[in-house]
Amino acid sequence: MVKDLLKGKNGIIFGALNDKSIAWKVAERAHEQRAGFVLSNTPVSIRMGTIDQLADKTGSTVIAADATSTDDLNNLFEQTMEIFGGKIDFILHSIGMSPNVRKGIPYTDINYPNFSKTLDISALSFHKIMQTSYHMDALKEWGSIVALSYVAAQKTLSGYNDMGDAKALLESIGRSFGYVYGRDKKVRVNTVSQSPTPTTAGSGVKGIDTLLDFSERMSPLGNATAEEAADFIVLLFSDLTRKVTMQNLYHDGGFSSMGMSNRAIEQYSKSFD
Ligand SMILES: NC(=O)c1ccc[n+]([C@@H]2O[C@H](COP(=O)([O-])OP(=O)(O)OC[C@H]3O[C@@H](n4cnc5c(N)ncnc54)[C@H](O)[C@@H]3O)[C@@H](O)[C@H]2O)c1
Repeated sequence: MVKDLLKGKNGIIFGALNDKSIAWKVAERAHEQRAGFVLSNTPVSIRMGTIDQLADKTGSTVIAADATSTDDLNNLFEQTMEIFGGKIDFILHSIGMSPNVRKGIPYTDINYPNFSKTLDISALSFHKIMQTSYHMDALKEWGSIVALSYVAAQKTLSGYNDMGDAKALLESIGRSFGYVYGRDKKVRVNTVSQSPTPTTAGSGVKGIDTLLDFSERMSPLGNATAEEAADFIVLLFSDLTRKVTMQNLYHDGGFSSMGMSNRAIEQYSKSFD
C-alpha cells in the first residue's frame, strides 16, 4: 500500500452523510494518506446523519453549507482558508438529490420546480463551488477538483429519471470549468463515473437491487465499491495525476464499454426456466 500520498495537502469534502456515503470512504482514505480536510454538508444532513463521528475519527472540522447557496459557499471557503492558513489543494463534490426520484414521479410526469431543484443540487452546485473557489483564488496550482457522476449521463437507464440529465450537465460543467481553471490557475477538474453503490442516495433509485445485480453481471471486473472509488479519488487528488483534467473517468469495472455479457445472458435465460 502506498503511503503519505496526500501528506501536506488540505481540502474540502462535500457529501458525507453516513458510513455508507462515498464521501465518507474518501475522507477515511484521505486521512490514511495524511491529508487534512474540512467536511461539509447541509445543516439537516449534519443533524440526521453521523458526520460528527467521521470528524472525530479524522480530526477534521465540520462546516455547514447548502451547496446551492453562494453565501454559504463563500463562508465555507473563508473559514476553510482560515483553518489551513491559506489556499487548499483539493475539493470533492459528492452531492446528489432528485425530489422527482425521491417521490417516485415518472419522467413523463415530471414536476418542473422539482426538476430545477434536481439540477441545482446535483449539477449547478458543482459550478457554484468552482466559481466561489476560482474568484477567491482558494486552490493552489496543481490543485484537484473531483465530482461523482454516473453512466446515466451517456446512456438511458430506466428509473434514474432526471438524475441522468443532471449528471450530463455535471460532466459538461466539469469540462467547461476545467478548461478555464486549467488555463488560468493550473487546477485539474474531473468527474468520476462510479458503479451503482448501496448508499442512501443510491437506494432512492427505483429498482436499485436489480440494477446492482445487472451491473455486476455486465461488468467483467464486477461493480466498483465505495472503498475502491475512494482509492481512485485519492489518486486524483495526488501529484501522480497532475496532467489529467477535463475528463469523465469511468470507475465501473468495465460496465460502460460493454454491450452484452455471458453472465447477464445466463441470468436472463434462467428467468425462463
Ligand atoms: N450510490 C450510487 O449508486 C452512485 C453511483 C454513481 C454516482 N453517485 C454519486 O455519488 C455522489 C454521492 O452520493 P452517495 O451515493 O454517496 O449518497 P449519499 O446519500 O451518501 O450522499 C449524497 C449527499 O448529498 C448531500 N446533499 C444533498 N443536497 C445537498 C445540498 N443542497 N448541499 C450540500 N450537500 C447536499 C447529502 O446530504 C448527502 O450527504 C452523488 O453525486 C451521487 O449521484 C452515486
